[in-house]
Amino acid sequence: MLAQEREKGNAMANMLKDKVMLITGAGGGIGREMALLAGREGAKVVVNDLGGAVDGEGSGSATPAQKVCDEIKAAGGHAVPNADSVTDPAGAERMIKTAIENFGRIDGVINNAGILRDRIFHRMSHVDWKMVIDVHLNGAFNVSRAAANHFKEQKSGAFVHFTSTSGLVGNFGQANYSAAKMGIVGLSRSIALDMAAFNVRSNCISPFAWTRMIGTIPADTDAQKARLERSKKMTPAKIAPMAVFLLSDAAQGISSHAVQRQPSGTLGAQLRGLDARDDRRAGDPVDEELLHRHEALARILHLGSDLTWLPQRARTNRRSRPTMS
Ligand SMILES: NC(=O)c1ccc[n+]([C@@H]2O[C@H](COP(=O)([O-])OP(=O)(O)OC[C@H]3O[C@@H](n4cnc5c(N)ncnc54)[C@H](O)[C@@H]3O)[C@@H](O)[C@H]2O)c1
Repeated sequence: MLAQEREKGNAMANMLKDKVMLITGAGGGIGREMALLAGREGAKVVVNDLGGAVDGEGSGSATPAQKVCDEIKAAGGHAVPNADSVTDPAGAERMIKTAIENFGRIDGVINNAGILRDRIFHRMSHVDWKMVIDVHLNGAFNVSRAAANHFKEQKSGAFVHFTSTSGLVGNFGQANYSAAKMGIVGLSRSIALDMAAFNVRSNCISPFAWTRMIGTIPADTDAQKARLERSKKMTPAKIAPMAVFLLSDAAQGISSHAVQRQPSGTLGAQLRGLDARDDRRAGDPVDEELLHRHEALARILHLGSDLTWLPQRARTNRRSRPTMS
């Protein structure tokens, strides 16, 4: 059945039906694609975006968020815009209030908003450091914190935060961004621990996609230019299905993970608990629940994506599988 659905391209139908999602930084890039897909999957979406430039400068504009809402509504979905900054705790509260007032609840939060202020470390200013930490790390805290009590009271909720290989492995000229993105992994894992008792999950995605942010990467040599050209094929739409999966009930039990998409198209996923297909291959007894999750993931990723997200085999980790999820 699932294979047939895959062939028909009939994946993810109403995966987020009646759920209410807040997506920050959703006026463009990856955030926009996640908002559009969440809307198509039946979610009611609060589309947050401050507007403004990639380096966080500029007074901001409500237009990008409004435009994405218009697109969601034109496709028959439900969406409301919000133009607050994630750096403002009161603004984060207003984002959640927007969800409650318009749609009656909040079920999921994607902390996606981001800026870049790259500088080689010995030239990095305190402003470069503070602005990047403020949008990424403090922003993820502000919005998560604003949602946390609602999730606790209703005993359900899902967070998806955006990290980066720059944090996970380091990168030139990105000490501020790398620190923020690694901080987000710690934030996510601790939220996963603190809120597991309330049936709240928290995961990170480390994406790679051609957006205006990646367009700022300098390319001087022919090899760098060729690499950037190849990167343009990595569209933001390919990231959205993984985020929607992690927000959906199909991801029940999946928490405290960082899922990584790499420019090579391969996946370094740490989605332990999704290796049931490997069990089958290895002749071990199949865990049907895990198999269901794996197939739901495969089904989702088929839509506008590829299967390179599929988790690596994690059999060797089975005995150390975390118990907190
Ligand atoms: N594109 C990639 O390959 C890549 C790689 C690693 C991580 N990421 C992360 O993915 C996320 C999305 O990045 P993208 O590539 O789509 O970038 P993008 O610049 O296209 O989108 C970021 C959005 O965040 C918004 N934003 C910025 N500051 C904000 C604030 N204070 N409040 C609310 N909104 C704000 C911007 O207006 C913009 O629309 C970011 O967290 C980024 O760090 C992206």
